[in-house]
Amino acid sequence: MNILAIESSCDETAMAIVRDGREVLCDCIASQVELHRIYGGVVPEIASRKHMEAIYGLADKALAEVGLTRGDIDALAVTYAPGLIGAVLVGVNFAKAAALAMNKPLIPVHHIRGHIAANYLAYPELEPPFLCLVVSGGHTMLVDVKDYTDMEILGTTLDDAAGECFDKVARVLGMPYPGGAALDQAAKLGDETKYQLPRSRPGENPYNMSFSGLKTAALNLINHTQQLGQTLDVPSLCAAFSAAVADTLVPRVVMALEQTGRRRIAVAGGVAANSRIRADILAAAETLGAQVYMPPLRLCGDNGAMIGAQAYYEYLAGNVADMRLNAYATKSILGEAL
Ligand code: KG4
Ligand code: ZN
Repeated sequence: MNILAIESSCDETAMAIVRDGREVLCDCIASQVELHRIYGGVVPEIASRKHMEAIYGLADKALAEVGLTRGDIDALAVTYAPGLIGAVLVGVNFAKAAALAMNKPLIPVHHIRGHIAANYLAYPELEPPFLCLVVSGGHTMLVDVKDYTDMEILGTTLDDAAGECFDKVARVLGMPYPGGAALDQAAKLGDETKYQLPRSRPGENPYNMSFSGLKTAALNLINHTQQLGQTLDVPSLCAAFSAAVADTLVPRVVMALEQTGRRRIAVAGGVAANSRIRADILAAAETLGAQVYMPPLRLCGDNGAMIGAQAYYEYLAGNVADMRLNAYATKSILGEAL
């Protein structure tokens, strides 16, 4: 089954053709990152307009790249939630029009389920159940993936997403948007013990997380150092910050592996590219004898292939939409599309 998958929830217009959920025939991306960089973050209206401009040509490009025609496409899939609402609407409207015109099924895919499914592309042998740590620009959660479309959220951030904090701290340090990767690079040269940053433990659910206190502490530290006329050791602050994020995430992963009895842990989302988080998860999993799944960096960030992968399993589960499909800025990973 060839699925043409569309992703437009943030600042990348992405289109992929994926066969039977596992084989990526093509994976095209029109990135807007350079455009938003001058504003230091994504400008929603610009994002929507750029998706409008890019989306049609990208569909033709995807087909041409693999020598397929519209007749070779068996279904359309699209990210319908969550994301910048104007941006998601562009993808959803395009997918609805294409499904109607081509008379093919329309499969709505939750963006975070897509991130998790990037693991199926990287690891053809991987099947649920497994645990997945989802860390992206907008989400941070620990998910028990019981089956392809049956998930339980063990814990989630109660405030900011980890990626949001990486980007905010990086921005204040003068790094270009999105600064997570640059902060990660800088951290490699730093001494993480030079600055002390907090690790919070919010609420009753031990799997829940909080990052806003850490973000504020890092920003205050930067401001105070500047006010005192002292020179900030940027690499060391980056190292201390990355360590604090990893120390928030990884113990919860360990606890989840121990308490659920699952033997496999996958990671997903752009922040899963972080070298400190990767190293700590690998070390913890080795101690516990658990298997680790870490998609390559290009599959960690937003892409169309991950939407096409999850779409196949949504289709098998009967999760197909009709022309009433709408887009949502926020939506639970457990929710129904209609
Ligand atoms: O999953 P993603 O591409 O988009 C969302 O769905 O949000 O994640 C983007 C996020 C950005 O916050 C970016 O700074 C962060 O992933 N990121 C990183 C690294 N690479 C990307 N954060 C920390 N370390 C990295 N190496
Ligand atoms: Zn994403």
